[in-house]
Amino acid sequence: MALVRFGVSMDHTLLEVFDRTIQREGFASRSDALRHLVQRFISAKRWEHLAGQAMGAVTLVYDHTTRNLTERLLKLEHAFRDTIVSTTHVHCNARVCLEVLLVRGETKRIATLVRELQSLRGVLDCQVTSVPFQENEGEESHG
Ligand code: NI
Repeated sequence: MALVRFGVSMDHTLLEVFDRTIQREGFASRSDALRHLVQRFISAKRWEHLAGQAMGAVTLVYDHTTRNLTERLLKLEHAFRDTIVSTTHVHCNARVCLEVLLVRGETKRIATLVRELQSLRGVLDCQVTSVPFQENEGEESHG
């Protein structure tokens, strides 16, 4: 496979932290680390484009003191009550909250929810673990 070189612009501080992380994790080079990250990113995003149903957990970290964030989040969670099965909220410190949303529904609907959550100002991290499934898979037939 032909290798293609391309330039990446990055904040100096971010690059320093990246280089330290690469070293700690034992990558041979920035290119190696980037290839690894790109592959992870692609496979993490792949589920969003599958048709059908999925279940998953959305882990959200946010600063609840961000203006209007809690109102926006609550409104969003109510709008997606068809998809959100349950929510667990832990107050990490005076500002930061950790919330885990268990979700179930159409893959596209879950992906929309995740995109909306990620776009909220004050959300510090949003990670998704998701598995596609078929409703009647694994059932014995009673026909
Ligand atoms: Ni909280």
